[in-house]
Amino acid sequence: MTPTHNQPPSEDPIRPHEYDGIQEYDKRLPNWWLVTFYATIIFWVGYWFYYERAQLGLSGPAAVEAELSQIEAAKLASAPAVDDASLWKMSRNPVFVDAGRATYASTCASCHADKLSGGIGPNLVDHLWIHGGTPTEIYNTVSNGVLVKGMPAWGPVLGGKKVAETVAFILSHHKEGDPIEKQEAWTPPSS
Ligand code: HEC
Repeated sequence: MTPTHNQPPSEDPIRPHEYDGIQEYDKRLPNWWLVTFYATIIFWVGYWFYYERAQLGLSGPAAVEAELSQIEAAKLASAPAVDDASLWKMSRNPVFVDAGRATYASTCASCHADKLSGGIGPNLVDHLWIHGGTPTEIYNTVSNGVLVKGMPAWGPVLGGKKVAETVAFILSHHKEGDPIEKQEAWTPPSS
């Protein structure tokens, strides 16, 4: 109980236990420590709500994925190679597909319908193609149009990158290796 050295006796109470002749004061934790401690609890609640409960923040792997898509999109856009492999690659990149979806909605949906199921122009999600269903064939159809049948040439209007994005969006409804069948002509639905 009595302090061993010549220190003034502490105001703090002594805890009741004793081990090997050692006793300890019941000291109040310093304010800076308590503030940090309660701050971590408040932070935890916010963190948990943002990432786990409301899922507003991207999880680690998803954030990396999004970042990689951006990098890949930048690479593809800087050298928009028009070959089957590159167009399939674009069709799996959400950055490209989202850009293509926007162009499709504003430029193509009026004739090919919102769900690409066809209207004035043919269905773009089935396996039937009039002008060929490989990525490069689709790209060429979109770029050059089929003027006599009422499909405008979009290459000069949209430019290569936007055409590629829109083709990527169409391809995102297909899988590499899907069957491609020849259709002679498109008959618009009567409704
Ligand atoms: C004014 C109406 C119209 C608009 C707008 C239009 N198309 Fe078309 N599209 C057509 C018609 C009509 C055809 C059918 C051509 C034919 O019969 O040979 C067609 C054909 C196509 C084909 C070929 C389908 C096949 O079976 O081979 C593709 C691909 C296509 N359009 C994509 C697009 C894209 C992408 C856009 C927007 C950038 C677009 N079209 C905008 C009318 C349109």
